[in-house]
Amino acid sequence: MTIEDYDEVFALWQITTKRALSSADSRENISKYLNHNRGMSLVGIVGGKIIATVLAGHDGRRGFIHHMAVSPDFRRKGIGSKLAREADKRIKNEGIAKTHIFCYKNNTLGQPFWRAMGFSKRDDIDVFSYD
Ligand SMILES: CC(C)(COP(=O)(O)OP(=O)(O)OC[C@H]1O[C@@H](n2cnc3c(N)ncnc32)[C@H](O)[C@@H]1OP(=O)(O)O)[C@@H](O)C(=O)NCCC(=O)NCCS
Repeated sequence: MTIEDYDEVFALWQITTKRALSSADSRENISKYLNHNRGMSLVGIVGGKIIATVLAGHDGRRGFIHHMAVSPDFRRKGIGSKLAREADKRIKNEGIAKTHIFCYKNNTLGQPFWRAMGFSKRDDIDVFSYD
């Protein structure tokens, strides 16, 4: 993914993962994110159109995957898992052993997906956020 993909990716997020979007996903912030984690975030393209995307990066010690999304018409074809595995491979290639994802508890698509990807759900941690 490059910043030139932003408009198409943002439009895809609007129909796949809208509630997870915030001011952190402005063009300026995504540009910063992509520069900070070069060559790690991905798009899937079919017929010249972006139908899948994932943000991948790390903070120097742990990897993070955000906003994994596949267009509804292309789901259950292995595209999400292919992108997630590639993202995780790129994170591992940077010497990062473990990757975390955030998934809403009631996300009935994301929860089984991440389990199927081999990610284990943590019951010992709560996320605290500070604005
Ligand atoms: C989650 C999402 C990215 C999955 O993409 P996908 O391309 O359909 O996923 P895959 O085809 O690679 O699925 C891999 C495995 O995940 C599991 N899985 C995926 N979607 C599932 C669903 N709706 N119900 C149950 N299991 C599911 C299955 O085990 C599947 O393997 P199978 O098809 O052989 O049974 C897609 O549904 C999506 O974009 N959802 C909306 C955005 C979202 O919630 N993202 C996750 C944020 S945490």
